[in-house]
Amino acid sequence: MALDFLLAPSILSADFARLGLELAAAEQSGADWIHVDVMDGHFVPNLTMGPGIVEACKRASALFLDVHLMVEAPERHIEAFAAAGAGGLTVHTEAGPNLHRTLQAIRALGCRAGVAINPGTPAEAVQPVLSLVDLVLVMTVNPGYSGQAFLPETLNKVRQIRKWLDAAGLPAHLQVDGGIDAETAPQAHAAGADVFVAGNAVFKHPGGAAGGLKALRAALTA
Ligand code: DX5
Ligand code: ZN
Repeated sequence: MALDFLLAPSILSADFARLGLELAAAEQSGADWIHVDVMDGHFVPNLTMGPGIVEACKRASALFLDVHLMVEAPERHIEAFAAAGAGGLTVHTEAGPNLHRTLQAIRALGCRAGVAINPGTPAEAVQPVLSLVDLVLVMTVNPGYSGQAFLPETLNKVRQIRKWLDAAGLPAHLQVDGGIDAETAPQAHAAGADVFVAGNAVFKHPGGAAGGLKALRAALTA
């Protein structure tokens, strides 16, 4: 049966000393994509991963690598991430003034292009580029850290963007990221999201990645 959603575990919550094993557990437990959170210490306070980790993930997993760039001037880095094996590159509207050019450059590198908005950014910020992207990411926490509480007010933006995509017949995925678990994923699904990023709910689940993915899938199909 074709499922109408995709699960994208975020390795930000994985044990980096065991990254290959964590990736294998996610893949064997039915993860659809692997979400890689890149942070530069400027766009967000935290510092995380660079192209070297993407390259390591590419060697360790056959899954699509969904790379979320929480960095200033993302256009400076897209080539390195594409070369490292990223399948998709998502950039924030808040990260710079050259959004169209950056999205076109991502596609020219052979990657899927994504656009993201923070909780404080209105849905209208992505409207002009909906026909240029393969994915729209509505942040459901302020980016920077795993394990933060879901912000329910962001669901209004998911509903609005779902309406725009459907009205125009556009095929872009609508992704949510931050505080997604078995309770919040169904709320975002009902609002129109179809790709669910989850960090703590997968890799910090008491049943491991298998238990976390099973709980999410069960909640989304209930
Ligand atoms: C937040 C990141 C998320 C984060 C999600 O800045 O973009 O992908 O890892 O982690 P959870 O699911 O624990 O909120
Ligand atoms: Zn993310």
